[in-house]
Amino acid sequence: MSVVHVIHENPLWLPPLADAFDAAGVPWQELDLSSGTFDLSSVPPEGVFYNRMSASSHTRGHRYAAELTAAVLAWLSRHGRRVVNGPAALDLEISKVRQYAALEAAGLTVPRTVMVQDDRAALLAAAHRYFAGQPVILKPNRGGKGLGVRLFADVDALARQLDSLPQDEAPVDGIWLLQEYVRAPRPVITRAEFVGGRFVYAVEVDTTAGFELCPAEVCAVGDAACPVGETVVAEAPRFRILPDGIDAGLRAKLEAFLSQAGIDVAGIEFIQDDAGRTLVYDVNTNTNYNAGAEEAAGVAGTPRSGPGALARFLGAELAGGRRLAA
Ligand SMILES: Nc1ncnc2c1ncn2[C@@H]1O[C@H](COP(=O)(O)OP(=O)(O)O)[C@@H](O)[C@H]1O
Ligand SMILES: [Mg+2]
Repeated sequence: MSVVHVIHENPLWLPPLADAFDAAGVPWQELDLSSGTFDLSSVPPEGVFYNRMSASSHTRGHRYAAELTAAVLAWLSRHGRRVVNGPAALDLEISKVRQYAALEAAGLTVPRTVMVQDDRAALLAAAHRYFAGQPVILKPNRGGKGLGVRLFADVDALARQLDSLPQDEAPVDGIWLLQEYVRAPRPVITRAEFVGGRFVYAVEVDTTAGFELCPAEVCAVGDAACPVGETVVAEAPRFRILPDGIDAGLRAKLEAFLSQAGIDVAGIEFIQDDAGRTLVYDVNTNTNYNAGAEEAAGVAGTPRSGPGALARFLGAELAGGRRLAA
């Protein structure tokens, strides 16, 4: 039978999607690529493949899951399978540098960023050269959940703390990013969710408690998905769906970016700074939705929720494919 195959490596992120698929009557099965063996001379199963491989997969012990996924997607593409969030999306998921190139090509503004190969002396030299006299953010090129994202008040603070950075925090692809700190008038970022390339809703996320902003419920408290030390438990709800959405011009630009970049599903993060500039700094092609915010906005369990919109979109893709095949 033709089904939606969900490519992923973290089962803890699946239940909201499973509920939405069941509610919409969409047949699906998981394809866990935390490991795998594939006979490349065989033909892949029928159906639509939805790629949810995560940039942070290496933090769950799945060091090569993203690389395995890229290889599997090549095999699926060779057989003409429809892959939602296909190779181009995965390519951006695992590299902020490639995200920024694609965002700028689509006319969006990204924070000033300098990339440095993983060498602490070079990092310090670059910080002095490009960010002297200002706060600076240090983050890995292949990110996820805010892990390893640090703000330093100035380059001296970076210099003092660089030696004490744990070795295992070296960026997994060997690339560090030094980035201008975008100061927002209020301590919030916005994350706009898109399904089928179209805007669904935006959440405002309170950043006072830190930079680890994974919206999934399993990330909100100490849980196997988020090893101890990664989690921040906030008292007030940190995620709030914006009733009026986002600026129409920005929305159109972000949708055009997704179309140009070959991305069907994404959560795109941006900050509006003191000067009114909108700076886009993170594209999550593997996105999770905040259940509490969806409840509060009255969209939980409906097609206007993230999982609901996804189930509807993927169900339609599956039905379209079935019609073509018939
Ligand atoms: N340039 C920046 N200026 C201000 N805050 C930032 C900047 N970059 C990241 N942050 C904060 O850190 C969080 C995590 O950074 P992000 O680039 O999204 O990494 P990840 O891919 O791990 O989610 C952001 O959501 C934001 O709150
Ligand atoms: Mg982020």
